[in-house]
Amino acid sequence: MTLISGFSRFDRAQRIKYIVEHSQLAVSERIHLDDYCAPEEQQQRVFSDMIENYIANFPIPMGVVTNMVINDQSYVVPFVTEESSVVAAAAKAAKYWASRGGFRASVDAMTKKGQVHFIWNGNQEHISRLFTGIKSKLLDATLGLTEKMRQRGGGITDIRLLNKTAQLPGYYQIDVSLDTSDAMGANFINSCLETIAFALQNLPELNANGNSVEIILSILSNYTPDCKVHCRIECPIEELTDWNKNLSGMAFAAKFKQAVDIANFDISRAVTHNKGIFNGVDAVLLATGNDWRATAAAAHAYASKDGTYRGLTTICLTDSMFRYELEFPLAIGTVGGITNIHPLVKNSLAMMNDPDARTLMMIVAASGLATNFSAIASLITTGIQEGHMRMHLSNIFNQLNTNHAERELILGHFSGKTVSFAAVENFIGQIRGEEIDN
Ligand code: MEV
Repeated sequence: MTLISGFSRFDRAQRIKYIVEHSQLAVSERIHLDDYCAPEEQQQRVFSDMIENYIANFPIPMGVVTNMVINDQSYVVPFVTEESSVVAAAAKAAKYWASRGGFRASVDAMTKKGQVHFIWNGNQEHISRLFTGIKSKLLDATLGLTEKMRQRGGGITDIRLLNKTAQLPGYYQIDVSLDTSDAMGANFINSCLETIAFALQNLPELNANGNSVEIILSILSNYTPDCKVHCRIECPIEELTDWNKNLSGMAFAAKFKQAVDIANFDISRAVTHNKGIFNGVDAVLLATGNDWRATAAAAHAYASKDGTYRGLTTICLTDSMFRYELEFPLAIGTVGGITNIHPLVKNSLAMMNDPDARTLMMIVAASGLATNFSAIASLITTGIQEGHMRMHLSNIFNQLNTNHAERELILGHFSGKTVSFAAVENFIGQIRGEEIDN
């Protein structure tokens, strides 16, 4: 095994040369990497400077979901996804619900959290008695950092000392609550926490009589149950007819409820159910330059908050009404991060009329509920493969290098039939064989 140091100091051409020499990447394939760089130098620099060891831009399709009506406002929502059926699923649900009152969404709070984890082996009552004084010193230490955020209506909203010595000898947390306004605020939070940690470590009252503060680590928490969004769809059950003409509204609603109930008690189904929500959620998070790993981690932890992993949606069928709701933590932003530098993120936000963070949270939740609703509605009626494989056909066309005439023949042949890669490959073999024979 060869190890390399200094790779990050290579320029792009040197990096690619190294990879060609040390992997299966053929020299001829380098051209593909070059094809995926932006044509203008300034445009390209944004991407080359975004990460370490950069070699190329990696395109994923961007589409839009129209007719997304949320709290009586209609949005065109950008989706970035590699999964062929996701936009179609969301668009179908968006249109369906647009004529049934649309999505109703709300945000109950936008509090973010950070923690300084530390060890202090002094008297436990002493540190809790001292904490009121300590707290104002810690807040004072951050004033310079939080000035701009306070001007925007945000900042540190609370600092608490949590005694965790029962879990680990001498272990405490400084638990910091923050309002980061329209920013996701990860860098802001982490800077505040490191400043607090430094101040804590140097407080004379905690560093006397043989005691000292030993900082373990300081970092934001991606678990944000106090930064939560709700989104609901509802209509009279009798109006649920035209998703599938073969089922009455009542039969559709009852089967839909069974599917949601299963996701509530069966972990294997719950994970897939929630994945269907994240089809829409992540597509909008990607399009808007938000951190989808953080939000996924938070949502899956929230899905297990009562000790069992459950679906994130709840359903209620009462008073002849179908009510379906999604609730999950979602800490995202519309300023900061890559929002100001990524050219397409700016476009995404503009398409949605430059939403604030609260509005974007609602749009993201509606998108997740839309993809989930479509998935369940298809699963309990036609099955998922019909729509999926129809959308997947174009990927198969590209894999098999089909021309226009072949595509037309395939579409005609498979209309109303089950599509699979093998069946299409077989059929194309027949056509091409016939062509050769002729
Ligand atoms: C596929 O991307 C998503 C689904 O599996 C979601 C679900 O099963 O609810 C269809």
